[in-house]
Amino acid sequence: MTSWPRPAEGRALVAPSLLSADFADLGGELASLAGAGADLMHLDVMDGHFVPNLTFGPFICEAIRRLTPVPLDAHLMMTHPHRYLEAFAGAGVDAITIHVEATCDVGAALERIGELGCRRGLSLRPATDVGEVLPLLDRVDLVLVMSVPPGFGGQSFDPAAPDRIAALREARREQGGRWLISVDGGINDRTGALCRQAGADILVSGSWLLKAADRAARTALLRGN
Ligand code: DX5
Ligand code: ZN
Repeated sequence: MTSWPRPAEGRALVAPSLLSADFADLGGELASLAGAGADLMHLDVMDGHFVPNLTFGPFICEAIRRLTPVPLDAHLMMTHPHRYLEAFAGAGVDAITIHVEATCDVGAALERIGELGCRRGLSLRPATDVGEVLPLLDRVDLVLVMSVPPGFGGQSFDPAAPDRIAALREARREQGGRWLISVDGGINDRTGALCRQAGADILVSGSWLLKAADRAARTALLRGN
């Protein structure tokens, strides 16, 4: 298993979402993001059913794997993620994040992700009660709080997200867990700081980070330098 980063005290890891990348120049984009200081690459997989949009699957993840040594987190916005776990693990991703709202035995799927040698991620939509993930926190390495409805980049940040992050941080403290809290959607310097203060360990950023002329400066802002 690839070594997995942890943030320094008071800082966050930065995970660019490749959804906003130029896929005609994936190698150049990955090199640019790694050079800017990316800690993880966030890969948005959409099935056209769980969300209305379609993106890419294990085939492209495997190509990305060959283009960068940076750890990869595949965010599966899929109704039936359990059917594809072997394929994504085989593509070489380091973490597989599935949704608590997926139509499958989510607990069993998380266990399978671990058996495949990947970090186990669990995500929830903004409309889903945080209580839905609590029974599964004994089998996760990462909880991904969606701060926009999943499906598209460039949407506005859900102002309720920091309180949801803080609730998860409290649940982790009570449990004595070591899983990381990540947040995804509408993240920029301002919303990123709010999430960091609430306890987010990883900030996923798509349009704000990738559309910038100076990605290194924005990465540093998100990290909390
Ligand atoms: C949305 C995706 C996000 C998206 C974030 O469904 O899960 O990862 O790329 O993009 P921004 O940062 O533009 O909201
Ligand atoms: Zn995502």
